[in-house]
Amino acid sequence: MKKFVIAIDGPAGAGKSTVSRIVAKRLNFLYVDTGAMYRVLTLKAIKQNIKWEEREKLIEMTKNTKIDLEDNEEYKVILDGKDVSDEIRKEEISKNSGYIASILEIREILWEIQRSFREKYDIVMEGRDIGTKVFPDAQIKIFLDASIEERAKRRYLQLKEMGMEEDIEKIKKEIIERDKKDKNRKIAPLIKSDDYYYIDTTNLTIEQVVEKIIYLYRKIIGEEKN
Ligand code: DC
Repeated sequence: MKKFVIAIDGPAGAGKSTVSRIVAKRLNFLYVDTGAMYRVLTLKAIKQNIKWEEREKLIEMTKNTKIDLEDNEEYKVILDGKDVSDEIRKEEISKNSGYIASILEIREILWEIQRSFREKYDIVMEGRDIGTKVFPDAQIKIFLDASIEERAKRRYLQLKEMGMEEDIEKIKKEIIERDKKDKNRKIAPLIKSDDYYYIDTTNLTIEQVVEKIIYLYRKIIGEEKN
C-alpha cells in the first residue's frame, strides 16, 4: 500500500512549518520542509557568486549539492555537511529564493528527492506545489492561508526569535512580492485546486489548526477501513 501523504501548501507565513511539524510528530510521520531546499540552493548560489541569469551554472550547482534535513530536537538543514538552519531564514534568502524556484530543471531534481521520501515513510510535506506536482495523489491536501497582516506579524516574530530585527512594513512588502512570484510563475505556481481543504488560520491558534488536520486524517483513515 502507498505510504500516507499529507500535503500542506500555502503562501509564506501561513503557519505551514509550525503546524506541519507538530502534525508529523503526533502522527509519527516524517516532516519535510521543501522550502528549505529552495532556500539552501539560493544560499549556495549567493555564496558562489552565481548570477540568477546563469541557469546552466545554477542547474549544475544543484546537481552537485547535498541537502540533508534532520528532524531531532530542532529541525536542522544541512548544506554539503554544514548546518545552515539559521542562515537560510534571512530576508536576503527569502527575497531571492524565487529565482531558484522558477527553474524547471532544478525543480525536477528536487521533486525526485521529495518523492523518494515516500518509499519508506508516511509524510507531512509542506511547500507550494506538494499537492499539485510532487504528490498529486496525496491522501490529504491542505491549503493553509492567512491575511497578509497576520502573516507579516508571524514572520516578524519568527525572525525576532532568531535575533533578527526587521521592519514589519518591509516584511509585509516582501511577502506581497513573494506571493506574486509564487502565484504567477509559469512552473508549478501556488494554486489551490478543488481537491484541497482550505484552512484560513488568521484567527486560529496553532493547536486549533493541528486539531483540524488530525481530525481530517482520522476521518479518512476511518473511512478507508470501513
Ligand atoms: O516556504 P518558504 O518561504 O521557506 O519557501 C522558500 C522559497 O521556495 C519561496 O520562494 C517559495 C519557494 N518554494 C517553492 O517554490 N516550492 C515549494 N514547494 C516550496 C517553496
